Amino acid sequence: MATRRCLRSLSNGLCQGTRSFGAVPEATASASGSQKLINLEYECSAHNYHPVPIVFSEAKGSSVWDPEGNRYLDFLAAYSAVNQGHGHPKIMKALQEQAQRLTLSSRAFYNDKFPIFAERLRNIFGYDMVLPMNTGAEGVETALKLARKWGYEKKKIPKDEAIIVSCCGCFHGRTLAVISMSCDNEATRGFGPLLPGHVKVDFGDAVALEKIFKESGDRIAGFLFEPIQGEAGVVIPPDGYLKAVRDLCSKYNILMIADEVQSGLARTGKMLACDWEEVRPDVVILGKALGGGVIPVSAVLADKDVMLCIQPGEHGSTFGGNPLASAVGIASLDVLRDEGLAERSSQVGQELRNQLLKIQQQYPNYIKEVRGRGLFNAVVLNSKSLFPISAYDICLKLKERGVLAKPTHDSIIRLTPPLSISLDELREGSKALHDVLELDLPKIQKAKPEHVSPTNSHICDRCGRDLYASPDKVSE
Ligand SMILES: Cc1ncc(COP(=O)(O)O)c(C=O)c1O
Repeated sequence: MATRRCLRSLSNGLCQGTRSFGAVPEATASASGSQKLINLEYECSAHNYHPVPIVFSEAKGSSVWDPEGNRYLDFLAAYSAVNQGHGHPKIMKALQEQAQRLTLSSRAFYNDKFPIFAERLRNIFGYDMVLPMNTGAEGVETALKLARKWGYEKKKIPKDEAIIVSCCGCFHGRTLAVISMSCDNEATRGFGPLLPGHVKVDFGDAVALEKIFKESGDRIAGFLFEPIQGEAGVVIPPDGYLKAVRDLCSKYNILMIADEVQSGLARTGKMLACDWEEVRPDVVILGKALGGGVIPVSAVLADKDVMLCIQPGEHGSTFGGNPLASAVGIASLDVLRDEGLAERSSQVGQELRNQLLKIQQQYPNYIKEVRGRGLFNAVVLNSKSLFPISAYDICLKLKERGVLAKPTHDSIIRLTPPLSISLDELREGSKALHDVLELDLPKIQKAKPEHVSPTNSHICDRCGRDLYASPDKVSE
């Protein structure tokens, strides 16, 4: 599918839009409705993102409309926060009904929705207790505090010596504790001093993990990891890794903390990505799709021996567990179950990868790898053959063809549409990628100046690894 305007121009070959290819706005006087809004945001809002220049005005299911009425297919789904599809009627009904009755009690008092939500989470995921928060990063912060508290109280780690082990290439959000684990220099430079008490290990390397556990295990409270790394580019660990992590955490009495904020809630074809190896982490963090793409809802799940280490007054959030979020959370979980979205993600995801693999066969020079699980997928581009065209440039062209995707790092495009996406919509998305490579790429390759410097390598300031560089990196 393409935008209405593009559909017209597609018959002539390429879409010919006058669009700004980046964050710098066009002159406001001549700007369209969308462009005016982009300009306004640029003027009035911090420049902490580099969005693809499309303005969302309405959305339903997998479709999004801009203020001009052009329709697009959403292949990002708000980084997996919209697993159930935009504006799902059951979630909207729950939101509206609850909004009319009660929206906020704060945890200074009880409300009649949160206990039901907590029980629902307990029944689905099999943990004794839930600690509700709002954003994913808050969920991660909560899990880190919980692990430290458990470490001191139960494991008897000496005061202020608790260590959290996390993975190179991880992404757990943007707060200070969380960026203290990051390998992304953009996320960390200029924000020091970072929090102490963090040790990093290569993702997917159980041998390296055991070495760290052996050396410092008596001071390690938790191992925090994404079962599939999302921001790093949908990186799937080797088979058996999750089981090995489980065994090592049990052996060294270390909490296994799975950040399922992006990979959880049916995205990979299972309710949790850890289910792929049937392992049960000690702590699970949920977010994003728990709020059904409507409001921020996150939760930390653990058994009593861990969760009850936190006592009244030691942690909380004014909005965590609010009745509106709880009603939306219940409906969001119901939709995942009632519509069999985990199974759907598994089947439809395989279909998407088949389509992408065919495109890779046609353009092996441009696509290095197609990988994913369920509808959690990435296309890894060959930056050497594409240079100076970046994944962002490809996403701009996809947008002109009516498909919305966002790059992660220089050469990876993440494809994570709503799990309710139809097969026809899926095919339209794949066709757009095909057409960009077939029709648009030769033109933009010519148009891009040849003297563009290759991107800097991503050698992590702290662990010294070049995580996001592909072997074909132009600078090498
Ligand atoms: C694995 C993971 N954890 C945590 C977060 C942070 O979530 P939020 O942006 O809601 O704070 C993200 C966000 O992308 C994520 O992917």
